[in-house]
Amino acid sequence: MINSELKRLRGSPFNALRALLDPLEPAAGLEPLTLTIGEPQHKPPQIMIDALHASEHLYGKYPPADGTPEQREAIAGWLTRRYGLSDGIVDANSNIAPVNGTREALFMIAQVITERATHNEAKPAILLPTPYYHTYHAAAFMAGADPVFMPATAEHDFFPDLTTLDPELLDRTTAFYLCSPANPQGTAASAEYLEEVLRLAIKHDFILIMDECYAEIYDCKPPVGILEICDELGEGLDHVLTFHSLSKRSSAAGLRSGFCTGNTEIIRTFIDLRNYAGAVSPLPVCAAAAALWNDDVHVEENRALYRQKFDAAERILGNRFGFYRPQGGFFLWLDVEDGVEATKKLWTKGALRVLPGKFLSAEGPDGVNPGDKYIRVALVGELDKTEEALTRLANSL
Ligand SMILES: Cc1ncc(COP(=O)(O)O)c(C=O)c1O
Repeated sequence: MINSELKRLRGSPFNALRALLDPLEPAAGLEPLTLTIGEPQHKPPQIMIDALHASEHLYGKYPPADGTPEQREAIAGWLTRRYGLSDGIVDANSNIAPVNGTREALFMIAQVITERATHNEAKPAILLPTPYYHTYHAAAFMAGADPVFMPATAEHDFFPDLTTLDPELLDRTTAFYLCSPANPQGTAASAEYLEEVLRLAIKHDFILIMDECYAEIYDCKPPVGILEICDELGEGLDHVLTFHSLSKRSSAAGLRSGFCTGNTEIIRTFIDLRNYAGAVSPLPVCAAAAALWNDDVHVEENRALYRQKFDAAERILGNRFGFYRPQGGFFLWLDVEDGVEATKKLWTKGALRVLPGKFLSAEGPDGVNPGDKYIRVALVGELDKTEEALTRLANSL
């Protein structure tokens, strides 16, 4: 009696990792170190704790599905500051939907924009990169669409090659999920690339769903955001939705707070849907979110901590394993020839848990899994542990 679509999903990459490593013993005499999950370990900012305490009397109230005006104002203010947007592009009253973490929202949004096919119609398609964040796949399936994987390989800066897209496929496409900076590869899409995807979205009338949750974790240059491109082109936000999260920006994954902005009608309908079935954020969480979006100082401190870890990676790994310094995010995407074998070796020789790229990717149309050669290494822990882990990694492979 379980939905057959759901049964076809591959499940979390972490389940596959447990099945791979649980039968094996980690190297003896070494403290096991985990570099798998993208959960920032930096201390959440004090302003968040203070805001939660200051509003704890509000836990007794039912919170509204669209957050609070202060929270939406803070989000609109941050977007305008971060992307230098013209006035009115984002409006705190009409096109911002605060959400309880972007994972849930990235999942649910596909249902808002996908019409189910009747039996003589072609199924709608949802395009997604491979490697990919596993929620996109589940979202496409559960919305009744065909998930179409587009390989995102080193040849194209780890973004899908747009020139290979069949116009017929684009015509039945309802959404295209893209992540920039990309998880797991850490590349940031160029303005030209984003403009090209946006033009495709307009031409074929689909929604470009940008997952920009790593937009604030960057090395040198702030990654370009889709809203800047919409602003420059003067095309409005009709064909885009973008998702941002405090989980990475403010090292606050447990707060479960982010937002979505874009096409006003979709945002309104999305808020309506969330009113039926979305967990809304408690009012103290809304207050904490407002405080965090209003502050950029803690984010700069956060970035500085990641830079130290990328410096360490550069020093320790040099040019081995195809190391490059990611433009954004906090993962290393290392070419180790066989990611699954390397993962086993790192566990048995170095007591390190990393994630094989294969578990984050699906085969493209050519039958090749673009993640096969890689491992993903999350640099989310303390600097000294990260240095130790990277040294063990270099010595074990
Ligand atoms: C690419 C990507 N998108 C979205 C999320 C979801 O983040 P959250 O639900 O914490 O906002 C994650 C979390 O790991 C992620 O890596």
